[in-house]
Amino acid sequence: MSRVAVFGAGYVGLVTGACFAELGHEIVVRDVVPERIERLRAGEVPIHEPGLDELLRRNAERLTFTLDVAEAVRDADFLYVAVGTPPTYSGDADLSAVWTVVDELGGLEGGAIMVMKSTVPVGTGAKVRHRLDDRGLGHIGYVSNPEFTAEGTAVRDFQHPDRVVIGSFDDADGDAVQELHRGIDGPVVRSDVASAEMIKLAANAALMTRISFINEIANVCEATGADVVRVAEGVGLDRRIGASFLRAGIGYGGSCFPKDSLALKQLAANSGYHFQLLNAVIEVNELQKRRVIGKLQRHLGSLRGKTVALLGVAFKPNTDDIREAPSLVLAGRLAAEGAHVRAWDPIAHIDSAPGVQQVESVDDALTGADAAVLVTEWAELADADWAGAAARMRAERPVFVDGRNMLDPQRMRESGWIYESIGRPSA
Ligand SMILES: NC(=O)c1ccc[n+]([C@@H]2O[C@H](COP(=O)([O-])OP(=O)(O)OC[C@H]3O[C@@H](n4cnc5c(N)ncnc54)[C@H](O)[C@@H]3O)[C@@H](O)[C@H]2O)c1
Repeated sequence: MSRVAVFGAGYVGLVTGACFAELGHEIVVRDVVPERIERLRAGEVPIHEPGLDELLRRNAERLTFTLDVAEAVRDADFLYVAVGTPPTYSGDADLSAVWTVVDELGGLEGGAIMVMKSTVPVGTGAKVRHRLDDRGLGHIGYVSNPEFTAEGTAVRDFQHPDRVVIGSFDDADGDAVQELHRGIDGPVVRSDVASAEMIKLAANAALMTRISFINEIANVCEATGADVVRVAEGVGLDRRIGASFLRAGIGYGGSCFPKDSLALKQLAANSGYHFQLLNAVIEVNELQKRRVIGKLQRHLGSLRGKTVALLGVAFKPNTDDIREAPSLVLAGRLAAEGAHVRAWDPIAHIDSAPGVQQVESVDDALTGADAAVLVTEWAELADADWAGAAARMRAERPVFVDGRNMLDPQRMRESGWIYESIGRPSA
């Protein structure tokens, strides 16, 4: 069994640490935020990720949490880097946390392997390799092992991956990381470091392209009277295409897609290439979030003084993550139009913003409001009492924009709503 230091107690670091502990490895998770470490030591999980609490509890004896780098790296065989790589103003990935980790390793003895889980631009591994060598850390190996888990299903995704990608400069380092994964069932893709870095960026770009593609099809469906749900079903049954990521809606958000698409666009641009398709994918996604405003205005006229309920704040169900969530753009746009926004979410919190109020229940959000927008397809919204809710709205026939095509149009109309969705015929 190996000893693994994990840098970063966030969504990826905690899932990685917990899943490796489940395989029997000794894990030390290091973060720089004292409150995070204190909570973890007290048995609290600072993020919402289904199954993670139980995994951490079950493997508590093999999991240590620390603020101290020396404690984390002592006798470590692997140094997993799972720190954030947020976007900068230019769209490039901000690698400052990654460089901090590299610099914190000064003086490290022993032959540990640094493994990059954070999503980084192609070429980062080569730069880290140089920096390690410059700092006299040539004995530390380097492997790219990008993460493909999705928030909400991360534990399952980690334990049953579609593939494990391992990119190394040195085959022996790659072999060691592959061995560390023993017990995890899934194909392993071995490559050089740059290709492993690109696999992660390309996979995300492919998924985003499918989302923007079906959203554009939805917009054409709206203009022509077709129903994108039926269209996606008919298209997705084609084995060459497949059904996943063909659900039309108000666009993607989250901590990965928006920043990773910008980083790839920037990476291409910095290398002298204009990535035309990816630019279009990003632009379509931005416009898609804003189409809701037009739908509301079509029924309500000016939104000034109107109250709009936002149902869902998290960028998708089963997470409390609101990074780049479409709800934030919508709340901002609605407030800018002069509307009052009442936001509800079972676990995520929208940061206080002018004109935006977070409320405790779906009822609190809807009662007396003029319109509702379903932003996140939380399961509890599927069976809500929509007829009762419509009766508590301000207007006799209130407006409902289903941004995720979650609800049944006919049932919603029969329940008293003017029901609009994405790419499905209006009444
Ligand atoms: N969230 C996902 O589902 C997901 C999926 C695939 C890939 N990724 C990538 O994984 C990386 C981490 O994402 P995340 O969502 O877990 O981020 P996060 O913001 O949830 O967690 C990052 C953690 O790193 C900590 N940190 C910063 N500097 C540190 C240092 N020097 N030492 C130790 N810890 C430090 C932060 O305090 C924070 O707790 C990013 O590059 C992201 O793009 C994320």
